[in-house]
Amino acid sequence: MAKNISILGSTGSIGTQSLDVARNLKIRVSGLSANGNLDLLEEQAREFMPKIVAINNDSLRDELKSRLKGLPIEVLSGLEGLKAVAAMDEVDTVVTSIVGIAGLIPTMEAIRKGKDIALANKETLVTAGSIVMSEAKKYNVNILPVDSEHSAIFQCLMGNNLNKVSKLILTASGGPFRGRTCEELMEVTLKDALKHPNWVMGSKITIDSASLMNKGLEVIEAKWLFDISADRIEVLIHPQSVIHSMVEYCDGSVMAQLGSPDMRIPIQFALTYPDRSDNEFSKLDLLKTRSLTFEEPDLNSFPCLGLAFDALKTGGTMPAVLNAANEVAVGLFLEEKIRFIDIPAIIEKAMEKHQKNKNPSLEDIIEVDRDTRDMILNK
Ligand SMILES: NC(=O)c1ccc[n+]([C@@H]2O[C@H](COP(=O)([O-])OP(=O)(O)OC[C@H]3O[C@@H](n4cnc5c(N)ncnc54)[C@H](OP(=O)(O)O)[C@@H]3O)[C@@H](O)[C@H]2O)c1
Repeated sequence: MAKNISILGSTGSIGTQSLDVARNLKIRVSGLSANGNLDLLEEQAREFMPKIVAINNDSLRDELKSRLKGLPIEVLSGLEGLKAVAAMDEVDTVVTSIVGIAGLIPTMEAIRKGKDIALANKETLVTAGSIVMSEAKKYNVNILPVDSEHSAIFQCLMGNNLNKVSKLILTASGGPFRGRTCEELMEVTLKDALKHPNWVMGSKITIDSASLMNKGLEVIEAKWLFDISADRIEVLIHPQSVIHSMVEYCDGSVMAQLGSPDMRIPIQFALTYPDRSDNEFSKLDLLKTRSLTFEEPDLNSFPCLGLAFDALKTGGTMPAVLNAANEVAVGLFLEEKIRFIDIPAIIEKAMEKHQKNKNPSLEDIIEVDRDTRDMILNK
């Protein structure tokens, strides 16, 4: 069980819920970081009294310093600040809850300093899964999934032989546009897309859930976490979000993990692993759930999922292109500069233009990420 943690992205949806778990379990929080949300970071720093707080936006460092004046807290900024939060001596586990590829370098820093990782930042594994997993092995670090689907699979694999797995079944709620046709999706607005039926999350992942790119990113994340090929990962739409994912074994047995749609449950499990702890979170009431239903994903209306499978099968730098193009396209959609249906079109075009590098280094991946963003924004 984690005793002393730091949180990269403490002001976000996963970050604040991780603090909730730390508060309940009385886990010491030694480091906090945010991008620009000074007010919340200050409030968190005053409550948890970490040793270091880091704000990514350098221009906000002095303001944060003056707000925390007189407290025994070191205030840092920029990438160096994030890396310092990732690398603190007293910390045993780093919760990586930054959104996007911005989480990659700080996560690598934590791994290289031998910290266990409670991993929410799926983009880290999507873009650089091969490097991240081999570094984790080298530094003897546990990568503990926070994503509810991967936490479910992780739990269904415990005590079992990975060689006897026939397939992983990732469930997806289907998002707010489940059942819509391509024509209907031409009309949807940002407000519609931000209304997730079951989960309250940050804006980027909420849009990814509406486009099914979130499930695509999770397929790639699952490949690296569980060392399994794309053809043995299946996606099923399960609108109730009660079964968080499943593992089918060679003898036909299917193991599933169920629970309320509350991210604090998988966060807590990542922090208490291999143990479990009591909590006051709402428990699943199956009588109220009544039915559990399943559908095949509609790849016509939601091409992002198919694009993610394509990127995974192509390998090399292609998943980094998929991710960068998606981050840019989602950003443009959040600014209401493009339509919802333009998201997959932008990603597909970026992937078509890319010449993949088969065995990229971390630097190659960062360069491909930057080039893809530039290409889309300066087209
Ligand atoms: N939310 C969920 O339920 C959920 C479930 C599973 C997996 N995840 C994954 O967890 C990650 C975080 O998701 P979220 O929903 O918690 O996102 P979020 O609410 O948008 O929070 C993102 C966090 O990252 C910080 N941040 C943003 N850009 C940054 C940058 N360039 N450098 C440093 N810090 C930066 C933000 O700081 P500011 O607040 O200052 O902007 C905030 O603390 C994502 O990878 C997501 O896919 C989320």
